[in-house]
Amino acid sequence: MCGIVGFTGTKQAAPILLDGLSKLEYRGYDSAGIAVRDGEKETEIIKEKGKLKVLQEMTDYGKAVKGCCGIGHTRWATHGEPSAVNAHPHATDDQNVIAVHNGIIENYQELREKLMKHGYTFKSQTDTEVAVKLIDYYYKKYSGLPVESIARAMVRIRGSYALCIMFKDYPGEIYCARKDSPMIIGIADGGAYVASDVPAILKYTRNVYYIGNMEIAQLKDGAVKFFTIDSEEIQKPLTEIKWDAESAEKGGFAHFMIKEIHEQPKVIRDTINSVVKDGIVHFDSVSLTDEEMQNIEQVYIVACGSAYHVGMALQYVIENLTTLQVRVELASEFRYRKMTLNKKSLVVVISQSGETADTLAALREAKDQGIKTLGIVNVVGSSIAREADNVFYTLAGPEISVATTKAYSCQLVAGYLLAMQFAKARNEIDEEKYQALLAEIYSIPEKIEKILEDDKERLQWYSAKLINVGDAFFIGRGIDYAIGMEGSLKLKEISYIHSEAYAAGELKHGPISLIEEGTIVISVLTQDLLTEKTVSNMVEVKSRGAKLMAVTTVGNYFLEDTAEFTCYVPKINPLFAGSLSVIPLQLLSYYVSIGKGFDVDKPRNLAKSVTVE
Ligand code: AGP
Ligand code: GLU
Repeated sequence: MCGIVGFTGTKQAAPILLDGLSKLEYRGYDSAGIAVRDGEKETEIIKEKGKLKVLQEMTDYGKAVKGCCGIGHTRWATHGEPSAVNAHPHATDDQNVIAVHNGIIENYQELREKLMKHGYTFKSQTDTEVAVKLIDYYYKKYSGLPVESIARAMVRIRGSYALCIMFKDYPGEIYCARKDSPMIIGIADGGAYVASDVPAILKYTRNVYYIGNMEIAQLKDGAVKFFTIDSEEIQKPLTEIKWDAESAEKGGFAHFMIKEIHEQPKVIRDTINSVVKDGIVHFDSVSLTDEEMQNIEQVYIVACGSAYHVGMALQYVIENLTTLQVRVELASEFRYRKMTLNKKSLVVVISQSGETADTLAALREAKDQGIKTLGIVNVVGSSIAREADNVFYTLAGPEISVATTKAYSCQLVAGYLLAMQFAKARNEIDEEKYQALLAEIYSIPEKIEKILEDDKERLQWYSAKLINVGDAFFIGRGIDYAIGMEGSLKLKEISYIHSEAYAAGELKHGPISLIEEGTIVISVLTQDLLTEKTVSNMVEVKSRGAKLMAVTTVGNYFLEDTAEFTCYVPKINPLFAGSLSVIPLQLLSYYVSIGKGFDVDKPRNLAKSVTVE
């Protein structure tokens, strides 16, 4: 996601745009730009790679750019690495159409090819430039009316967008179009404002319109008109914003972590849709051919922290769907072991930031041994993304909270799709099973939404029981064990409670001596074939005084005889159940942390990206 702003009115636009962008940097900050027009003069476009500060200094905080109509953008790249060329605004060569965009044009490649056949050329690698030139194409081919041209483009575009658009023939006017990406429009003192989010305009107005999906808006002379995709004008109510500035940045949520927990359904959907088209996984953007996948014998998954826990879960998924051998390694260990890697292998490095020193070093070690590498990365253009032979980008957007949630979940789903693609390329699953698995993966977002609806209050209530505990144990078998690892890390890193994750079968080999009256043991039980075994382990610890919580699949009501608190997740293929069972554990840790009054988004001693050894 990124931040967009726009202003047209009687005040100088550039300072307003830069001020608005500064309130949206949490939405993306790899490059920024503004386009400002002074009356009927040529529009001035200034954009640069780097944080907003670069643009502020280039324009003397906007004072050096004249004009009362403009749009601005702070980018979180999804298509095309961070650079001045890929930064927004994007424009046609004749400046007939200039725009900024938040979202993903999923069919940008087919549209780009269509436009090239009509003589268009492209400067950037972005999907946004395609949208700009598509609007221009319709503008010149048909009526030369902004609303109709935009509407035609909206019919052709698949994906998500919040677009702010300026037309050469319509000075002083800004047009907006929205589908799925957030956008808010405000008016005050003869001016009209548009932004991705409330913080950018709260300083100027609390009177806002919420533009709906597939709607178009015209900002002109301090007023706003709305249109449907059929160019019919519609009326919309003016709403007063009640939020204060700080809570507005979190979209009304108390912390970025809880906001990002709630963003998981959307960003998982975006990540799936980035490679799945019409029921088929297209790995061309990941550039791993079927032939390459057929010739690979071994997969090494190398990462740190939560990304390592993703690998621990994916190991079971890949082994279940293929005959591949999978090893999961901590990057900080992998980089120093003199391990001779199987030449016919693939090293998969997983990293949200793409800058984790240990993971980057492990990637380089693999490349030094001539092994093919794939990065599952969230930050476009990051070091790991640039150095890996292949990249599968997660589309989680900027993750502000140090404790990862949405990026972790997108990494899991990216791994599922990779496992499926391997299985299909190696003819180890048939088409029927492939489509069945894909349907299960597609069901993950809505099932997470159900968990968030059903269980938040119960988990907040139960979290009070953990506020003063000194130790907690997470147990599970198979994928449940891997999810327990992630649940344990979440509790440790944001509530500072010592906790450990154990393979449930391992307790009797020593750790069970730690169990005493009141010890908290959290069990994850979604792997049908292993549930009974884990229940036995639960009974073992309960008989020694443990207090049990269970996270399990709906229907396993018998667990309430053993656990004092049970959280149910919707049924799903057990291979993908980790994407669901992790949600209650994220919420539990979040509520314990805020219950203890800690800074949940910035836990002590931690950094979002560990770029040192
Ligand atoms: C996760 O909550 C932690 N913040 C941490 O373990 C993180 O997953 C780890 O540092 C790896 O970071 P990366 O994904 O950016 O490489
Ligand atoms: N897809 C557009 C780009 O990569 C916009 C990205 C965003 O919304 O952050 O430039």
